[in-house]
Amino acid sequence: MTDRVRGQYEAYPYPERDPADEKKRLIVGSPSDLREIDHYLFAGRRDWKRPFRALIAGGGTGDALVMLAQQLADRGTPAELHYLDLSEASARIARARIETRGLQKRVTFHRGSLLDAGKLAPGPWDYIDCCGVLHHLDDPAAGLKALAALLKPHGGMGLMVYGELGRVGVYDAQAMLKDLCAGAPDPERLATARALLGDLPATNRLRRNPLVVDHLKGGDAGLYDLLLHSRDRAYRVGEFAQLIDGAGLGIASFIESARYDPATYLGDAALLEKLKPLSALQRAAFAELLAGNMKTHVCYAAPKARAAVCVARPDDPKAIPYGRDVDFPALARGLANAAPSATFDGLTIKLKLPASAPAILTLIDGKRSLGEVHVQLEPAMDWGKFFAEFRQVYAAFNGINRMLLRHTG
Ligand SMILES: C[S@@+](CC[C@H](N)C(=O)[O-])C[C@H]1O[C@@H](n2cnc3c(N)ncnc32)[C@H](O)[C@@H]1O
Repeated sequence: MTDRVRGQYEAYPYPERDPADEKKRLIVGSPSDLREIDHYLFAGRRDWKRPFRALIAGGGTGDALVMLAQQLADRGTPAELHYLDLSEASARIARARIETRGLQKRVTFHRGSLLDAGKLAPGPWDYIDCCGVLHHLDDPAAGLKALAALLKPHGGMGLMVYGELGRVGVYDAQAMLKDLCAGAPDPERLATARALLGDLPATNRLRRNPLVVDHLKGGDAGLYDLLLHSRDRAYRVGEFAQLIDGAGLGIASFIESARYDPATYLGDAALLEKLKPLSALQRAAFAELLAGNMKTHVCYAAPKARAAVCVARPDDPKAIPYGRDVDFPALARGLANAAPSATFDGLTIKLKLPASAPAILTLIDGKRSLGEVHVQLEPAMDWGKFFAEFRQVYAAFNGINRMLLRHTG
């Protein structure tokens, strides 16, 4: 079966990328944005002048590799990145993208299975990216264990697996295509898939699921990956947590964490009260059922003892809050006209902010520490009140992964 998985990615490297596009734009996403790695795995305190070693396991056509290599180069970090994938065709594209950016000195390419990472790329690693890969393994638990064993004690991982509820209809279509395509060559499979998609009745669950678009917008590779894959499975929150736990890791944070909080969706205070006794994980599982739209789960994970303490905390006056691709002073100017919101997989979340939010956000420029924001705030308030208000602002924007924290030294 692994040969079939490899064969697919040799024929249809995923996602489709043109190395020439590296001259025009950098693709940034989660996991593995360096700002997130710093915040969620190194408490905002990593010294990026120190060497950093990362493994990109199942690196595909190179999105995480390219993002990491560029961001590390921009910071002047002495970095060593190792890419590992079954597919030579995918590696060729990833390599061409890296070469287009002139970053090849930082990267070593390996071909093989991440199950053999201990032999091929033993590390130890400060960071391992494994995005969209584990759910294609015969034994995802063995795959994650093999990778977790290669982490440095203070290292961590960025993970993504498919979410079950947002993929409604995908497995129906996969099952139908197995009946229709048995033994057929790839071009015929793709043609059959397109014919079926064009002939789905209005009630079909894939047709009625607007969240899944890879088969419509992702080219041949996207269509094959979604509907013709020889092996994929999807996870509920609890199953994903079990997988992580089984590898000796704990979840440092889901991305975006607000999506995993029932309070993001429920307005009824009595219902929320009933949820108070639940653990964070039970609340996350509840939120997944409630929202019903999660088609992937992204998280940062670290060795169990560290997972609870490796995320930056918003209660340190020396921490510097900053926007992840948001200009908070500019956003503050617009707050009088419209309350901010964020849309994830078809659902718009309205952010709950205190009255002091515009005054606080005006001062969050990525340079001032929290202590400085407090001292310069008008009207002035004592630290206790300020912290209570800032915490609401932080919960709102960090919950959608837009406000992060770092320390200067
Ligand atoms: C869906 S793609 C994801 C690529 C990339 N991580 C991304 O997020 O864009 C899955 C990749 O995992 C690779 N892969 C699948 N099983 C693997 C294994 N056992 N070891 C290493 N790579 C594997 C495939 O060749 C493919 O490139």
